[in-house]
Amino acid sequence: MEAPAGLRLALVFAVLVHFSLLPTSHSLSSQDLQIVSAERRIDLTSHITRVYLTLKVENTGTSPPASEILLAFPPTEVDHIALLKAAVAVGKKKKKSYLPLDVKPSEGPEAPNETKFFSVLLLNPLSVGESLTLEVLYVLTHSLEPFPLEISQSEPQLVYYHDSAILLSPYHIKQQITVIKTPSTKVESFSRVEPTDHAGTELKYGPYEDRSPYSFSPIIVHFENNNPFAVVEELVREVEISHWGSLQITEHYKLVHAGAQHKGVFSRVEYQSRPSLSGVSSFKNLIARLPPRVHSVYYRDEIGNISSSHLRKDSRKSELEIEPRYPLFGGWKATFVIGYGLPLQDFLFESSDGRRYLNFTFGCPLAETVVDKLTIKVVLPEGSKNPFAIVPFPVEQSLEVSYYGIPLLSSAETLTSYSYLDVVGRTVVVLEKKNVVPEHNSPFQVYYNFNPIFMLAEPLMLASVFFFLFVACVAYLHIDLSIRK
Ligand SMILES: *[C@@H]1O[C@H](CO)[C@@H](O)[C@H](O)[C@H]1NC(C)=O
Ligand SMILES: *[C@@H]1O[C@H](CO)[C@@H](O)[C@H](O)[C@H]1NC(C)=O
Ligand SMILES: *[C@@H]1O[C@H](CO)[C@@H](O)[C@H](O)[C@H]1NC(C)=O
Repeated sequence: MEAPAGLRLALVFAVLVHFSLLPTSHSLSSQDLQIVSAERRIDLTSHITRVYLTLKVENTGTSPPASEILLAFPPTEVDHIALLKAAVAVGKKKKKSYLPLDVKPSEGPEAPNETKFFSVLLLNPLSVGESLTLEVLYVLTHSLEPFPLEISQSEPQLVYYHDSAILLSPYHIKQQITVIKTPSTKVESFSRVEPTDHAGTELKYGPYEDRSPYSFSPIIVHFENNNPFAVVEELVREVEISHWGSLQITEHYKLVHAGAQHKGVFSRVEYQSRPSLSGVSSFKNLIARLPPRVHSVYYRDEIGNISSSHLRKDSRKSELEIEPRYPLFGGWKATFVIGYGLPLQDFLFESSDGRRYLNFTFGCPLAETVVDKLTIKVVLPEGSKNPFAIVPFPVEQSLEVSYYGIPLLSSAETLTSYSYLDVVGRTVVVLEKKNVVPEHNSPFQVYYNFNPIFMLAEPLMLASVFFFLFVACVAYLHIDLSIRK
């Protein structure tokens, strides 16, 4: 009995697996849509790759209107996508504007070489004979591969970029062109897929006519890129709200230079005497863009405060130039903490339904930096209820509650949201996101209910602590005296 049962189970399982692997059926076969023209601009000037795609899509079929357009990516590229945005152009010429569209990962049709898809959902279905212009931006991280893998202090940094000269697409493309922009004219080599043209900092592939769906033509560009490959492997930002008037931010950075590994010894003399030739791919300072009206700024590492940071402020922004104790070469790391205070009234508001909300910026304040793993912890005031966050892209959300009990007895160092005067504990809204790029620096909100009676909790706590201390002192003195008698 057992064997047939097992077999049956295996069969059921196989059938299930089979069905789940079947691509979801699409209302429109890909033959019905075609791309009239595709223009792709690939910006390789920093270590973050940005691709701007303009697609003119036409519905040439006879089936019902198309409600989505598929974007195709090779599986190796999908893992590097940090952000993918699409917008549709509306209006003509001067009155042209762009409406953002929803984009989501999609099963897509059966496709060669494990092609991955994203589906752009149209606001109005594209009827037969109609066309529209789609603007797409996607940002790739860790997509430039240093080669050679190791360089000495006197060598520039060279990297590889892999792509296809022909845009991967499930649709027929009538005409297309790709332009790759490099940081300098120093291009070691590049693949040719005629017509190919290299002039200045631009490499042009195409125009290519009438390419069938899933056409692919691999190319490699090998070029010099000495921009700071600044990657924060882990960033934890704590945003502490105190209704007593300030927002306290503490940011813990684990920074690494993700470019070609440094080989040989580091000569500071050479580095300082020939700055234009020596260590061109290293970086010795970074800019943190902080909100205006920032105060009590500090910057420290394991050793202590670093005073060589400069703060420039104007009415719109503040810029903190941070300088680690040594320049960072490929593979080198720096761990440091930045802290600052901000006026609460710039970031905390009351919504029409009486809730309070924090409106703060997501992402990382360091310019042109990739964050592999970002955690934002918003520490709400004591007594806050029903918190939730609204972030304009998918993030992992969770709640932590820190109960410290009687604060003077707690081991404060081990707690993340540490404050001496907590009574009931504070709710912490935790937001986590992997693969964060500067495009993620957009506002997010944390809403919560707050009863102002709790504002009395801290002073009451303080008062009672002093009262108990007083009583304890009196008792101690009393006992002391009674022993002496
Ligand atoms: C699929 O991959 C194989 C091997 O890497 C390659 O030869 C072939 O051209 C690819 N096909 C398409 C359609 O990309
Ligand atoms: C570092 O600087 C901050 C802010 O200026 C200050 O509060 C702190 O006491 C300093 N720490 C040390 C160890 O100097
Ligand atoms: C949050 O702040 C930004 C500007 O920093 C503003 O554009 C946006 O409207 C604010 N959002 C809310 C919900 O208040």
